[in-house]
Formats: sequence, structure tokens, C-alpha cells
Amino acid sequence: MRQVEILITAPMMPSVVEALDEAFVLHRLWEHSDPGELLRTIGPSIRGVATTTLFGRVDSGLLDQLPALEIVASFGVGYDNVDVAAAAERGVVVTNTPGVLDDEVADLTVGLLIATLRQIPQADRFVREGRWTEGPFPLSSTLRGRRIGMVGLGNIGKAVARRLAAFGVPIAYHARSRQPGVALDYYPTITALAEASDVLIVLVPGGAATKHLIDGNVLAALGPNGVLINVSRGSVVDQRALIAALQSGAILSAGLDVYEDEPRVPRELMEMSNVVLLPHIGSASVETRDAMGALVVENLRSWFERGTPMTPVAEVRHLVG
Ligand code: 8YV
Repeated sequence: MRQVEILITAPMMPSVVEALDEAFVLHRLWEHSDPGELLRTIGPSIRGVATTTLFGRVDSGLLDQLPALEIVASFGVGYDNVDVAAAAERGVVVTNTPGVLDDEVADLTVGLLIATLRQIPQADRFVREGRWTEGPFPLSSTLRGRRIGMVGLGNIGKAVARRLAAFGVPIAYHARSRQPGVALDYYPTITALAEASDVLIVLVPGGAATKHLIDGNVLAALGPNGVLINVSRGSVVDQRALIAALQSGAILSAGLDVYEDEPRVPRELMEMSNVVLLPHIGSASVETRDAMGALVVENLRSWFERGTPMTPVAEVRHLVG
């Protein structure tokens, strides 16, 4: 296996790079001043790619330069950074890192929801700025009595719903279809869910199919007491429409972990006091990122040792039997 050549497209955690370095011949694309030249030289012998969701696009252009490629192992549960259809067409297996981050992201989602409603970061700033001595912090909104609408009910959505059930709030969901064995109320359209909810929690995959699923109409349906929480992908929410809705009072507030053009966050959002802004940290604990990294390495090792990846994405399962 030592002679198998692997390309890493963008910087990854040192533990991942070290583990890959021990098992394979590694090429670090981002370290080269002329990546195009590197690809022309080593492209034909690359059999595996390790990449990350945020900075490691694997598109048909790159795939065309890697004719011997067998597998793309992506760091992250979302894999909108990989053109999976183009990979599948070429017989290339794609893996992601599901399961190991579900609880971490669900914990963060609940934390962000409560931080947004109870204005925890704003209250922290209030204390640090010495303003408490001038008077009390203004009263906040509440989770009490709020109806939660889950947009998407995959593994992370279910983990969020399980947690929120303990908070004693009603929970409904929208997904492409009603899920068997799920006792929550189902809404066949997002707008109907938004109308029936006071909080929308967005937990669907990114990519073309979900682009701007949350638009001005959905936000209008959510209404002036409504709160939007997005921990999935920035592309799912029409960011201009969200800014307009927050500015006009069409919705009350938002808690965001993801943005349309990361790591750039629009100044309008930064200047608003009714939003909580996080830098895409849903899975970003040492333990969870270690587990995700280990799964990337394990997918590549397992493929090249046994011909079976650990966690292939649904679109390529037909390639792995
Ligand atoms: C990323 C994520 O992996 O899992 C996902 O889909 O968005 C994150 O956990 C992380 O931002 C590193 O790219």
C-alpha cells in the first residue's frame, strides 16, 4: 500500500496528514506554487484523494486530470464540495464522515438556538463592556412556548429533535417525504412548516438541490416573532433575503454557523444586534474532528487494503457492491 499515491487538495489536520504519510505516498497540492504543473506531472498516478468540505473542491476538471483515481475521501458529513455525479460516472468512490459528528453538531445547534433566543453572546459583551453598572441587560425572547420546525430530518436533525423534546417544546418537520416511524408532525412544504413554526432549524445538505430553499417567502411565513437557525450550509438560505428580513423585522432574529461565501460574512450581519454569528464550528471540537480525521484515513486504508470503503456516500454505493 505504501506505493499508492494520494493527493491532498487542501490543508488538513496534522494527525490526518501524518497518518496518511505513514501509509501512502502523499502529494500536498496546496503547498505547490504551480498546482497545475504538479497535476500534469503526478495526476496520472494518483489513486486516492483526501479533501475537506470547505476548501477542497473536487470537480470534473480535477477528476479529468486524475485518470487512475479510485476514491475521494472527504472530511465532513456534507460533500457538496465533491461533484459526486462526475465521480460516479468515472467509477470513482466518494466517502464522507457521517455518524461521528452527529451529536456534536446537535449539541451546538441547541446551544446556538438558546444563545440566539436568550442573547447569551450579547449579554457577555454587555458585562465585558462594563455596561451592567449602568443598568440591567434588556429582557430577551424565550424558547418557552415556541414551536420548532425542523427543515430536514436526517441523522443530525433527529439528534436535535431528541434533545429539544427534553425542552418540552412542540416539534414538527419538513423533509422530501414523510419519514416512517417518526412521530413528529410532517409538513409537505417548507412554507407551511414556516407558517406553523416560531423557530426554523435548517439541517439539509448543501448543493444545487437545496440552494436558497429558505427564501424571502419562507422567512415572511415564519413571521415577525420567528427565529432562523442555520447550521447546515450557507447556500441553503438566500442570505440577501435573510438580511432584508432581519433589517425590516420580517423575522425576529437568527443564529448562523454557516454563510454563502465563507469565511466572508456580510458587514450588515456583523452590525446587527439580533443575530448570533459563529464561524462554522458545528463539528469543531478536538475529539470530534479527530474522529472525523480518523474516518478519512480509515476509508482510504480500507479501500486500498480490502477494496471496501467504510462510509461511501449513497450516490456511489452501487460501485462498492
Ligand atoms: C466540516 C461540515 O467538515 O461535516 C460537515 O459537513 O460542514 C464540517 O464539519 C468542517 O467545516 C471542515 O471542513
